[in-house]
Amino acid sequence: MFEKFIPVEVILLAIETSCDDTAAAVLEGGRRVLSSLVSSQDEVHRKYGGVVPELASRRHMENIVPVVKGTLKEAGVDFDELGGIAVTRGPGLIGSLFVGLSTAKAIAFARGIPFVGVNHLMGHLLAIFLEREVPFPFIGMVVSGGHTSLFLVEDFLRFRSLGATRDDAAGEAFDKVAKALGLGYPGGRIIEELAARGDPHAIAFPRPYLEGSFDFSFSGLKTAVINYIRSHRIGEDEVPHVAASFQEAVVDVLVKKALWASARFGVGRVVVSGGVASNGRLRERFLEEGRKEGIEVLFPSPRFCTDNAAMIGVAGYHLLKAGRRDPLDLNATSRWPLGREDGP
Ligand code: KG4
Ligand code: ZN
Repeated sequence: MFEKFIPVEVILLAIETSCDDTAAAVLEGGRRVLSSLVSSQDEVHRKYGGVVPELASRRHMENIVPVVKGTLKEAGVDFDELGGIAVTRGPGLIGSLFVGLSTAKAIAFARGIPFVGVNHLMGHLLAIFLEREVPFPFIGMVVSGGHTSLFLVEDFLRFRSLGATRDDAAGEAFDKVAKALGLGYPGGRIIEELAARGDPHAIAFPRPYLEGSFDFSFSGLKTAVINYIRSHRIGEDEVPHVAASFQEAVVDVLVKKALWASARFGVGRVVVSGGVASNGRLRERFLEEGRKEGIEVLFPSPRFCTDNAAMIGVAGYHLLKAGRRDPLDLNATSRWPLGREDGP
Protein backbone atom coordinates (compact mmCIF):
# COMPACT_ATOMS: atom_id res chain seq x y z
CA MET A 1 0.00 0.00 0.00
CA PHE A 2 2.79 2.42 0.93
CA GLU A 3 6.15 3.11 -0.61
CA LYS A 4 8.78 0.68 0.61
CA PHE A 5 11.22 3.50 1.32
CA ILE A 6 10.70 6.70 3.22
CA PRO A 7 12.62 9.89 2.39
CA VAL A 8 15.78 10.26 4.52
CA GLU A 9 14.58 13.65 5.79
CA VAL A 10 11.04 12.45 6.46
CA ILE A 11 9.05 14.34 9.10
CA LEU A 12 7.55 11.96 11.64
CA LEU A 13 4.99 12.42 14.36
CA ALA A 14 5.62 10.21 17.39
CA ILE A 15 3.20 9.42 20.19
CA GLU A 16 3.87 7.77 23.57
CA THR A 17 1.17 6.90 26.11
CA SER A 18 2.36 3.63 27.64
CA CYS A 19 2.16 4.70 31.26
CA ASP A 20 1.15 7.95 32.91
CA ASP A 21 2.68 10.63 30.68
CA THR A 22 1.01 11.84 27.49
CA ALA A 23 3.80 12.62 25.02
CA ALA A 24 4.11 13.62 21.38
CA ALA A 25 7.05 14.77 19.29
CA VAL A 26 7.96 15.79 15.77
CA LEU A 27 11.25 14.53 14.32
CA GLU A 28 13.02 15.28 11.09
CA GLY A 29 15.34 12.74 9.54
CA GLY A 30 14.97 10.33 12.44
CA ARG A 31 16.94 12.37 14.95
CA ARG A 32 16.42 16.12 14.71
CA VAL A 33 13.80 16.95 17.34
CA LEU A 34 11.57 19.77 16.09
CA SER A 35 9.43 19.56 19.23
CA SER A 36 8.83 17.17 22.11
CA LEU A 37 5.99 17.68 24.58
CA VAL A 38 5.30 15.64 27.70
CA SER A 39 2.17 16.24 29.74
CA SER A 40 2.82 14.77 33.17
CA GLN A 41 0.08 13.13 35.21
CA ASP A 42 2.07 13.13 38.45
CA GLU A 43 -0.50 15.23 40.27
CA VAL A 44 -3.26 12.73 39.37
CA HIS A 45 -1.41 9.74 40.85
CA ARG A 46 0.48 11.43 43.67
CA LYS A 47 -2.11 10.79 46.35
CA TYR A 48 -2.09 7.06 45.58
CA GLY A 49 1.72 6.73 45.68
CA GLY A 50 1.73 5.02 42.26
CA VAL A 51 0.05 5.01 38.86
CA VAL A 52 -3.67 4.11 38.87
CA PRO A 53 -4.23 2.61 35.37
CA GLU A 54 -7.89 3.59 35.05
CA LEU A 55 -7.15 7.21 35.90
CA ALA A 56 -4.15 7.24 33.56
CA SER A 57 -6.24 6.19 30.52
CA ARG A 58 -8.90 8.77 31.28
CA ARG A 59 -6.35 11.53 31.56
CA HIS A 60 -4.65 10.44 28.30
CA MET A 61 -8.06 10.71 26.64
CA GLU A 62 -8.30 14.36 27.69
CA ASN A 63 -4.68 15.21 26.92
CA ILE A 64 -3.85 13.43 23.71
CA VAL A 65 -5.33 15.84 21.15
CA PRO A 66 -4.03 19.02 22.82
CA VAL A 67 -0.56 17.45 23.16
CA VAL A 68 -0.44 16.32 19.52
CA LYS A 69 -1.72 19.70 18.30
CA GLY A 70 0.72 21.47 20.62
CA THR A 71 3.75 19.57 19.40
CA LEU A 72 2.86 20.16 15.72
CA LYS A 73 2.37 23.86 16.43
CA GLU A 74 5.67 24.13 18.28
CA ALA A 75 7.45 22.34 15.42
CA GLY A 76 5.74 24.60 12.88
CA VAL A 77 4.57 21.52 10.99
CA ASP A 78 1.13 20.86 9.46
CA PHE A 79 -0.55 17.46 9.26
CA ASP A 80 0.00 17.42 5.50
CA GLU A 81 3.78 17.62 5.95
CA LEU A 82 3.95 14.40 7.98
CA GLY A 83 5.55 11.44 6.21
CA GLY A 84 4.74 8.86 8.86
CA ILE A 85 3.66 8.12 12.41
CA ALA A 86 5.39 6.13 15.15
CA VAL A 87 3.48 5.13 18.26
CA THR A 88 4.19 3.03 21.34
CA ARG A 89 2.34 -0.26 20.98
CA GLY A 90 3.65 -1.90 24.18
CA PRO A 91 4.68 -2.95 26.72
CA GLY A 92 2.63 -0.83 29.10
CA LEU A 93 -0.82 -0.24 30.55
CA ILE A 94 -3.31 -1.46 27.99
CA GLY A 95 -5.88 1.31 28.47
CA SER A 96 -3.15 3.93 28.17
CA LEU A 97 -1.65 2.34 25.06
CA PHE A 98 -5.07 2.24 23.36
CA VAL A 99 -5.38 6.02 23.52
CA GLY A 100 -2.07 6.72 21.75
CA LEU A 101 -2.46 3.88 19.30
CA SER A 102 -6.00 4.89 18.28
CA THR A 103 -4.94 8.49 17.80
CA ALA A 104 -1.98 7.45 15.65
CA LYS A 105 -4.20 5.18 13.56
CA ALA A 106 -6.78 7.90 13.02
CA ILE A 107 -4.14 10.32 11.74
CA ALA A 108 -2.46 7.67 9.57
CA PHE A 109 -5.85 6.69 8.13
CA ALA A 110 -6.96 10.25 7.48
CA ARG A 111 -3.66 11.32 5.91
CA GLY A 112 -2.87 8.05 4.14
CA ILE A 113 0.62 7.88 5.61
CA PRO A 114 2.54 4.86 6.97
CA PHE A 115 2.44 4.11 10.66
CA VAL A 116 4.43 1.77 12.84
CA GLY A 117 3.95 0.40 16.36
CA VAL A 118 7.10 0.70 18.48
CA ASN A 119 8.34 -1.25 21.47
CA HIS A 120 8.74 1.19 24.38
CA LEU A 121 12.07 -0.39 25.42
CA MET A 122 13.47 0.05 21.93
CA GLY A 123 12.67 3.74 22.30
CA HIS A 124 14.59 4.00 25.59
CA LEU A 125 17.57 2.10 24.13
CA LEU A 126 17.78 4.37 21.07
CA ALA A 127 17.06 7.69 22.85
CA ILE A 128 20.81 8.44 22.91
CA PHE A 129 20.74 8.90 19.10
CA LEU A 130 18.62 12.03 19.54
CA GLU A 131 21.77 13.74 20.74
CA ARG A 132 24.77 11.88 19.38
CA GLU A 133 26.03 8.99 17.28
CA VAL A 134 27.12 5.83 19.09
CA PRO A 135 28.98 3.02 17.33
CA PHE A 136 27.45 -0.47 17.59
CA PRO A 137 27.55 -2.76 19.44
CA PHE A 138 26.94 -1.39 22.94
CA ILE A 139 25.46 -2.58 26.20
CA GLY A 140 22.08 -0.92 26.69
CA MET A 141 20.53 -0.65 30.13
CA VAL A 142 16.98 0.56 30.70
CA VAL A 143 16.23 1.56 34.28
CA SER A 144 12.77 2.99 34.80
CA GLY A 145 9.60 2.65 36.83
CA GLY A 146 8.53 -0.38 34.82
CA HIS A 147 11.82 -1.91 33.67
CA THR A 148 15.33 -2.85 34.69
CA SER A 149 16.74 -4.58 31.63
CA LEU A 150 20.10 -5.23 30.04
CA PHE A 151 20.62 -5.69 26.30
CA LEU A 152 23.40 -6.18 23.85
CA VAL A 153 22.43 -3.66 21.17
CA GLU A 154 23.85 -4.86 17.85
CA ASP A 155 22.29 -2.29 15.54
CA PHE A 156 19.17 -0.13 15.29
CA LEU A 157 16.96 -3.18 14.96
CA ARG A 158 18.82 -5.97 16.76
CA PHE A 159 18.62 -6.34 20.51
CA ARG A 160 19.79 -9.32 22.47
CA SER A 161 18.16 -9.51 25.89
CA LEU A 162 20.72 -10.37 28.59
CA GLY A 163 18.67 -10.00 31.75
CA ALA A 164 15.81 -8.20 33.46
CA THR A 165 14.30 -7.71 36.85
CA ARG A 166 12.62 -10.71 38.43
CA ASP A 167 10.40 -8.55 40.61
CA ASP A 168 10.40 -4.78 41.23
CA ALA A 169 11.99 -2.42 38.70
CA ALA A 170 14.64 -0.05 40.09
CA GLY A 171 12.36 2.99 39.75
CA GLU A 172 9.51 1.10 41.37
CA ALA A 173 11.76 0.41 44.38
CA PHE A 174 12.55 4.16 44.57
CA ASP A 175 8.82 4.93 44.44
CA LYS A 176 7.91 2.36 47.11
CA VAL A 177 10.67 3.41 49.50
CA ALA A 178 9.62 7.05 49.04
CA LYS A 179 6.05 6.07 49.83
CA ALA A 180 7.14 4.23 52.99
CA LEU A 181 9.04 7.35 54.05
CA GLY A 182 5.92 9.43 53.37
CA LEU A 183 7.73 11.48 50.74
CA GLY A 184 5.30 11.45 47.81
CA TYR A 185 5.30 10.30 44.18
CA PRO A 186 7.21 9.80 41.96
CA GLY A 187 9.88 8.93 44.49
CA GLY A 188 13.10 8.88 42.47
CA ARG A 189 13.79 12.57 42.32
CA ILE A 190 12.69 13.16 45.95
CA ILE A 191 14.97 10.37 47.23
CA GLU A 192 17.84 11.78 45.19
CA GLU A 193 17.37 15.26 46.65
CA LEU A 194 17.27 13.95 50.22
CA ALA A 195 20.18 11.58 49.61
CA ALA A 196 22.39 14.53 48.71
CA ARG A 197 22.28 15.49 52.41
CA GLY A 198 22.79 11.94 53.73
CA ASP A 199 25.66 9.49 54.21
CA PRO A 200 25.51 6.70 51.59
CA HIS A 201 27.39 4.39 53.95
CA ALA A 202 25.29 5.06 57.06
CA ILE A 203 23.24 1.86 56.77
CA ALA A 204 24.51 -1.34 55.11
CA PHE A 205 21.47 -2.36 53.08
CA PRO A 206 21.80 -5.61 51.08
CA ARG A 207 23.17 -5.58 47.51
CA PRO A 208 21.17 -8.15 45.53
CA TYR A 209 23.84 -9.11 42.98
CA LEU A 210 22.42 -12.51 41.86
CA GLU A 211 25.93 -13.71 41.03
CA GLY A 212 26.33 -15.32 37.63
CA SER A 213 23.15 -13.80 36.21
CA PHE A 214 22.33 -10.57 34.38
CA ASP A 215 18.92 -10.52 36.09
CA PHE A 216 18.02 -8.09 38.85
CA SER A 217 15.90 -8.28 41.99
CA PHE A 218 15.07 -5.18 44.01
CA SER A 219 12.15 -6.39 46.06
CA GLY A 220 14.35 -7.80 48.89
CA LEU A 221 16.28 -4.54 49.14
CA LYS A 222 13.04 -2.53 49.13
CA THR A 223 11.63 -4.73 51.93
CA ALA A 224 14.87 -4.40 53.94
CA VAL A 225 14.61 -0.61 53.73
CA ILE A 226 10.91 -0.56 54.63
CA ASN A 227 11.55 -2.92 57.59
CA TYR A 228 14.39 -0.68 58.73
CA ILE A 229 12.14 2.39 58.59
CA ARG A 230 9.42 0.64 60.61
CA SER A 231 11.58 -1.10 63.20
CA HIS A 232 13.85 1.86 63.91
CA ARG A 233 11.05 4.46 64.03
CA ILE A 234 13.46 6.82 62.34
CA GLY A 235 13.38 10.52 63.05
CA GLU A 236 13.38 13.27 60.45
CA ASP A 237 17.13 13.82 60.69
CA GLU A 238 17.75 10.18 59.76
CA VAL A 239 15.66 10.21 56.56
CA PRO A 240 18.49 11.56 54.34
CA HIS A 241 20.77 8.74 55.56
CA VAL A 242 18.17 6.08 54.74
CA ALA A 243 17.59 7.67 51.31
CA ALA A 244 21.34 7.88 50.57
CA SER A 245 22.07 4.34 51.78
CA PHE A 246 19.19 2.89 49.75
CA GLN A 247 20.16 4.85 46.63
CA GLU A 248 23.78 3.70 46.98
CA ALA A 249 22.72 0.03 47.16
CA VAL A 250 20.66 0.35 43.96
CA VAL A 251 23.45 2.23 42.19
CA ASP A 252 26.08 -0.34 43.23
CA VAL A 253 24.07 -3.18 41.71
CA LEU A 254 23.20 -1.36 38.46
CA VAL A 255 26.76 -0.16 37.86
CA LYS A 256 28.35 -3.51 38.65
CA LYS A 257 26.01 -5.50 36.40
CA ALA A 258 26.24 -3.19 33.41
CA LEU A 259 30.03 -3.01 33.57
CA TRP A 260 30.22 -6.76 34.01
CA ALA A 261 28.09 -7.24 30.87
CA SER A 262 30.39 -4.87 29.04
CA ALA A 263 33.48 -6.90 30.04
CA ARG A 264 31.78 -10.24 29.42
CA PHE A 265 30.81 -9.34 25.82
CA GLY A 266 33.97 -7.38 25.12
CA VAL A 267 31.97 -4.24 24.33
CA GLY A 268 33.63 -1.08 25.65
CA ARG A 269 30.53 1.08 25.68
CA VAL A 270 27.46 1.24 27.91
CA VAL A 271 24.37 3.39 27.31
CA VAL A 272 22.06 3.89 30.30
CA SER A 273 18.53 5.23 29.83
CA GLY A 274 15.07 5.30 31.46
CA GLY A 275 13.81 7.56 34.26
CA VAL A 276 16.30 6.31 36.88
CA ALA A 277 19.16 7.17 34.50
CA SER A 278 18.46 10.83 35.24
CA ASN A 279 19.72 10.19 38.81
CA GLY A 280 22.86 12.26 39.42
CA ARG A 281 24.50 9.79 41.77
CA LEU A 282 23.95 6.93 39.30
CA ARG A 283 25.52 8.97 36.51
CA GLU A 284 28.46 10.00 38.66
CA ARG A 285 29.23 6.46 39.86
CA PHE A 286 28.81 4.98 36.37
CA LEU A 287 31.29 7.46 34.91
CA GLU A 288 33.74 6.94 37.77
CA GLU A 289 33.69 3.13 37.67
CA GLY A 290 33.61 3.08 33.87
CA ARG A 291 36.72 5.26 33.74
CA LYS A 292 38.57 2.85 36.04
CA GLU A 293 37.77 -0.05 33.73
CA GLY A 294 38.25 1.81 30.45
CA ILE A 295 34.55 1.59 29.57
CA GLU A 296 32.76 4.57 28.05
CA VAL A 297 29.39 5.24 29.70
CA LEU A 298 26.81 7.43 27.97
CA PHE A 299 23.42 8.80 29.02
CA PRO A 300 20.74 10.73 27.15
CA SER A 301 19.91 14.13 28.68
CA PRO A 302 17.45 13.72 31.57
CA ARG A 303 14.49 14.89 29.42
CA PHE A 304 15.15 12.02 27.00
CA CYS A 305 15.77 9.52 29.85
CA THR A 306 12.27 9.81 31.27
CA ASP A 307 9.32 8.83 29.09
CA ASN A 308 9.05 10.96 25.97
CA ALA A 309 7.84 10.56 22.39
CA ALA A 310 11.03 11.68 20.63
CA MET A 311 12.69 8.37 21.51
CA ILE A 312 9.71 6.53 19.99
CA GLY A 313 10.26 8.62 16.88
CA VAL A 314 13.90 7.48 16.54
CA ALA A 315 12.90 3.84 16.85
CA GLY A 316 9.97 4.32 14.46
CA TYR A 317 12.22 5.99 11.92
CA HIS A 318 14.54 3.00 11.77
CA LEU A 319 11.65 0.55 11.54
CA LEU A 320 10.04 2.53 8.70
CA LYS A 321 13.41 2.90 6.98
CA ALA A 322 13.79 -0.87 7.07
CA GLY A 323 10.44 -1.17 5.29
CA ARG A 324 8.25 -1.96 8.25
CA ARG A 325 4.61 -0.84 7.99
CA ASP A 326 1.86 -1.82 10.40
CA PRO A 327 -1.75 -2.42 9.39
CA LEU A 328 -4.56 -0.29 10.79
CA ASP A 329 -5.96 -3.25 12.74
CA LEU A 330 -2.78 -3.43 14.85
CA ASN A 331 -3.51 -4.12 18.51
CA ALA A 332 -1.73 -2.88 21.62
CA THR A 333 0.11 -5.38 23.79
CA SER A 334 0.75 -5.05 27.52
CA ARG A 335 3.65 -7.53 27.43
CA TRP A 336 6.10 -7.48 24.55
CA PRO A 337 9.61 -8.85 25.08
CA LEU A 338 11.99 -6.85 22.92
CA GLY A 339 13.40 -8.86 20.04
CA ARG A 340 10.04 -10.34 19.14
CA GLU A 341 8.87 -7.59 16.83
CA ASP A 342 5.52 -9.22 16.10
CA GLY A 343 4.43 -9.21 19.72
CA PRO A 344 3.01 -12.20 21.57
O1 KG4 B 1 11.21 6.11 32.21
P1 KG4 B 1 10.17 6.63 33.15
O2 KG4 B 1 9.79 8.08 33.01
O3 KG4 B 1 8.84 5.82 33.04
C1 KG4 B 1 8.79 4.43 32.92
O4 KG4 B 1 8.88 3.92 31.77
O5 KG4 B 1 8.67 3.80 33.99
O6 KG4 B 1 10.69 6.33 34.63
C2 KG4 B 1 9.96 6.72 35.77
C3 KG4 B 1 10.69 6.20 36.99
C4 KG4 B 1 9.97 6.43 38.29
O7 KG4 B 1 9.97 5.22 39.04
C5 KG4 B 1 10.80 7.50 38.99
O8 KG4 B 1 10.78 7.42 40.41
C6 KG4 B 1 12.18 7.19 38.46
O9 KG4 B 1 11.97 6.83 37.11
N1 KG4 B 1 13.05 8.37 38.51
C7 KG4 B 1 14.16 8.44 39.26
C8 KG4 B 1 14.66 9.75 39.08
N2 KG4 B 1 13.84 10.44 38.24
C9 KG4 B 1 12.85 9.56 37.90
N3 KG4 B 1 14.76 7.53 40.02
C10 KG4 B 1 15.89 7.91 40.66
N4 KG4 B 1 16.42 9.14 40.58
C11 KG4 B 1 15.85 10.10 39.80
N5 KG4 B 1 16.38 11.32 39.71
ZN1 ZN C 1 9.74 4.22 30.04
